Amino acid sequence: MPDKYQIVKKDVLTPDISRISVYAPLIAKKAKAGQFIILRAAEDGERIPLTVSSCEGDEVTVIYQKVGDSTMTLDELNVGECLADFVGPLGMPTDIDGCDNVAVIGGGLGCAIALPVAAALHKRGAHVDLIGGFKTKDIVILEKEMAEASDNLYICTDDGSYGFSGFVTGKLQELLDSGVKYDRVYAIGPLLMMKFVCKLTAAADIPTIVSMNPIMIDGTGMCGCCRVTVDGQVKFACVDGPDFDGHKVDFDETIARAATYKEFEAMRRENHKCRLEGMGNG
Ligand SMILES: Cc1cc2nc3c(=O)[nH]c(=O)nc-3n(C[C@H](O)[C@H](O)[C@H](O)COP(=O)(O)OP(=O)(O)OC[C@H]3O[C@@H](n4cnc5c(N)ncnc54)[C@H](O)[C@@H]3O)c2cc1C
Ligand code: FES
Repeated sequence: MPDKYQIVKKDVLTPDISRISVYAPLIAKKAKAGQFIILRAAEDGERIPLTVSSCEGDEVTVIYQKVGDSTMTLDELNVGECLADFVGPLGMPTDIDGCDNVAVIGGGLGCAIALPVAAALHKRGAHVDLIGGFKTKDIVILEKEMAEASDNLYICTDDGSYGFSGFVTGKLQELLDSGVKYDRVYAIGPLLMMKFVCKLTAAADIPTIVSMNPIMIDGTGMCGCCRVTVDGQVKFACVDGPDFDGHKVDFDETIARAATYKEFEAMRRENHKCRLEGMGNG
């Protein structure tokens, strides 16, 4: 039997994005689509939230993109090594009931978070159109898995190198113009993408759920770090979300807040690189 929080599988999806499966039987039994875990790669590490991608047997799978210090530290671990902490499931599961014909839209890494939602809807019998947007062909991830979790998969690339040429909003508009009717849209990805999907679905009067992933600290509703304004009220993404009614989210405020720690995080990233260089790994 593997040790607690041992990494039992690891595969590299792109040079920046990897998938790991972790031995965590209690979380694997309970987690539902839309929920997340908080992990610490090392004892002295920062706690980072990652969405549960799937659960199988005693294993929980997460997909992460290397963007800074903690995700780089996580990426240094290999199969057989153990995480210091792996806590969850946290957050509210995605509401997948009460809809028959849906569009699930993922942007970039957001496709990793959209995948379990699409899979749960598809398993329940809803008709799922999955629209996945990427900058270019080389960084398309999870194409096979997304095809299995949907009735129709539409890959879009900003530069037109693969699939539909343009943004996910362009594809969604095209589908709506062709007469497709959705009773709900799920949008998961960069804030700007979700904001513009919501503009479009508000005009078409389609209820839309977005997944808000602000910076989190405790993940239990205590620190207030993950607050978002929804319908004029303060909500905490870690306990009230991460899903919210996209037509009621104050995206402009969230976009401004997301930039708060940019300089500090960039500084830590530089330090991390220096440490690695010092160890002869850089
Ligand atoms: C509920 C939730 C679910 C998430 N699920 C996933 C997932 O499945 N896979 C995944 O790769 N990431 C996911 N994230 C984001 C992930 O937690 C961050 O990328 C990670 O904490 C960054 O840590 P770091 O130290 O490596 O980077 P940092 O050095 O902390 O940050 C690097 C850059 O990323 C930005 N950043 C940091 N955290 C976030 C965030 N939460 N949202 C947007 N930008 C951020 C920083 O502003 C900075 O520009 C999720 C976040 C939340 C809140
Ligand atoms: S992360 Fe602290 S309240 Fe949500």
